[in-house]
Amino acid sequence: MLKTQIAVLVSGGGTNLQQLINAQEEGRLPHGEIAIVIANHADAYALERAHRHHLPTAVVEKKDCADNREFEQKILALLEEKHIDLIILAGFMTILSADFTSRWPKRIINIHPALIPSFCGKGYYGLKVHQAALDYGVKVTGATVHFVNEIPDGGEIIMQKAVDVLPGDTPEILQKRVMEEAEWILLPAAAELVAQKIAEEKENANA
Ligand code: GRF
Repeated sequence: MLKTQIAVLVSGGGTNLQQLINAQEEGRLPHGEIAIVIANHADAYALERAHRHHLPTAVVEKKDCADNREFEQKILALLEEKHIDLIILAGFMTILSADFTSRWPKRIINIHPALIPSFCGKGYYGLKVHQAALDYGVKVTGATVHFVNEIPDGGEIIMQKAVDVLPGDTPEILQKRVMEEAEWILLPAAAELVAQKIAEEKENANA
């Protein structure tokens, strides 16, 4: 079977990347293969995790590019070189342009640390998402894996998981609970779901 070739795009600590690596090593990502990890910061700890597991890595920094177009072109070249079928945004703190996302319909997935359509879209990233949930006073939040299109956090939803907000929660405490109880479970499961679909399509196209 032709496995779905996956690129994981990261910016930070890479705990979600780690869950994808664990899933691959434990046989929970049978239809996919992480072919490259691309970071937009050379000091992203996620790169360290990739190296430890002998995964190919690349760094594309905006400061080395004339503009956003060149930044995206460099990423696109890497994706082509590695014959990538599926892009997973795992804490990638940059919004990809409509020009980029329109080339990859239903081929880019993202994890967002809230139940979309709550607390999402432009400006809702990192701890700000959890701060907004606490400020609003919701009693349940969670995480969402969705396809990426030209609308930030606006693409079709693939999977969601709810997490309780508890008395005394700070944005940091809530972020940790949402990661442990939702993100780290959802992302590998959604990756396999989408990877399986793409692998089957590749198989049929080759038949
Ligand atoms: C996660 O909360 C993810 O939902 C978000 O950024 C964070 C990334 O964490 N968009 P990590 O780098 O995977 O540890």
